[in-house]
Amino acid sequence: MADTQRKQRASGGADDEETRTRVLVGDDDPGVRDVLERLLSDEGFAVDQASTGQEALDALTRPEPERPRVALLDIKMPEMDGLEILQRMLEQGVDVPVILITGMNAGSITIKAMQMGAADYLQKPLDLDEVLIAVKKAIYYDELKRGAGSQLVPTTKTDPAERIIGSSPEMLRIFKTIGRVARTPATVLVTGETGTGKELMAEAIHNASDRRTGPLIKVNCAALPETLLESELFGHEKGSFTGALTQHKGRFEAAHKGTIFLDEVGEMTFGTQKKLLRVLQEREFERVGGNIPVKVDVRVIAATNRNLREEVVANRFREDLYYRLNVIAIHMPPLRERMEDIPALVSHFLNKHRYTPASSPTRITEEAMNKLMLHDWPGNVRELENIIQRAVVLCRGTIITPEHIQFQNELNRFILDVEQKVRANATLDDMLHDVKREAILTALRINDQDFAKAAAQLGLSDDQMREYLMELKLLGEMDALPSHEFAGKASGARDSGTA
Ligand SMILES: Nc1ncnc2c1ncn2[C@@H]1O[C@H](COP(=O)(O)OP(=O)(O)OP(=O)(O)O)[C@@H](O)[C@H]1O
Ligand SMILES: [Mg+2]
Repeated sequence: MADTQRKQRASGGADDEETRTRVLVGDDDPGVRDVLERLLSDEGFAVDQASTGQEALDALTRPEPERPRVALLDIKMPEMDGLEILQRMLEQGVDVPVILITGMNAGSITIKAMQMGAADYLQKPLDLDEVLIAVKKAIYYDELKRGAGSQLVPTTKTDPAERIIGSSPEMLRIFKTIGRVARTPATVLVTGETGTGKELMAEAIHNASDRRTGPLIKVNCAALPETLLESELFGHEKGSFTGALTQHKGRFEAAHKGTIFLDEVGEMTFGTQKKLLRVLQEREFERVGGNIPVKVDVRVIAATNRNLREEVVANRFREDLYYRLNVIAIHMPPLRERMEDIPALVSHFLNKHRYTPASSPTRITEEAMNKLMLHDWPGNVRELENIIQRAVVLCRGTIITPEHIQFQNELNRFILDVEQKVRANATLDDMLHDVKREAILTALRINDQDFAKAAAQLGLSDDQMREYLMELKLLGEMDALPSHEFAGKASGARDSGTA
């Protein structure tokens, strides 16, 4: 066998090898190949090795039972690199998930690879747990795809912008749940804090289901008052209320043979909850102002960031509806409980928010990444996405350093304070005083208490800055300094002065 070095485990015979899932490991470094082989065969996989790109391609184009189910390929290999292998696979219609292994800072080539249909990528130095997770995830998605026909989950594989990122145990558990429930008609309740990806999950379930050729209709239950929401959901008959000039079909009818996504379902009033309960029980309803029953075949996915259990206890949500919705529960964990997903999310968003599809993604320094890893992410994945998007703009598409990372809650907290103050009848002068004080303290802080730099950053002359400090009674904080030494490091001097 010249093309690949087929290895058999000492303990396992040929029969055993036949039933095991075959994985191809391609790398020109025999050390890497052997480590990966040992790792994977300990997990029960049959492993083939390839030391060149050509050998890898030969293995990938073998007929079925001999063909690997998944390939782990180093992007740089002799004879043919990873991209070329992907290209040849595309040309020959070979559909084996490929996980590429890249070196450090292989940003643009990695993106290219993902666009060419690579299932995933891993960066050297390899974390062996990550390797196993990536292999299992790739096989899992592939199974999902094969099980439900050829167009299943097109977005998760081919369109990197639409991928759901996550290889933390929590996310893997969720991927499994999606796989199990997608092709059943069961109602799903997705819960989780804001920005954890609830809507994305609803899309993933719809796309992985046999209803994907039908519509996915989204309704935000918090956006409309009760009567409008009811007519939006169930439609209305002509003349049912002033202004109802024609019959109107509701979103449930529009979602026939597809999926309806009821977002923020916890905000529904009791009256609407009752009507929804009936649809879930009988798959039937009447349009507002009508009495002809309308039958629909709709899969319902509901989402909320409230704790519906508590809402039931507090008598704000019907218990019977809660149990009807909560047939399958998917709880999206907050990002702070799966911090290991952050690096992959960051590269995903760097790719998603490039200036143009053709420009290469921005890179991020280790310090900036560390800053992200230390944050507690109250706004979850959405917050991370916004921060990366803003950082790309701030650094103009080259390298993101810690200064480009500005946490939203720092900004939001301030805006919220303003709102609270207005509500508490604070005067504009009081608020401006607070804004100035906050701005000056912030400028001093981010300039390491360098007075002159802080003044320059705020567009103030040194004299103006000094005036503000006096006006805002901040001077007292700096009075350990002789006045002509304002340009020095105030806090450091103060600390040592009191020591
Ligand atoms: N695992 C993920 N991988 C990639 N992108 C994600 C992931 N989770 C969330 N996102 C992105 O983060 C943003 C917020 O996600 P989404 O709208 O699904 O959150 P949500 O839970 O519905 O939030 P809210 O409760 O505020 O409505 C979207 O742009 C989504 O694409
Ligand atoms: Mg949402």
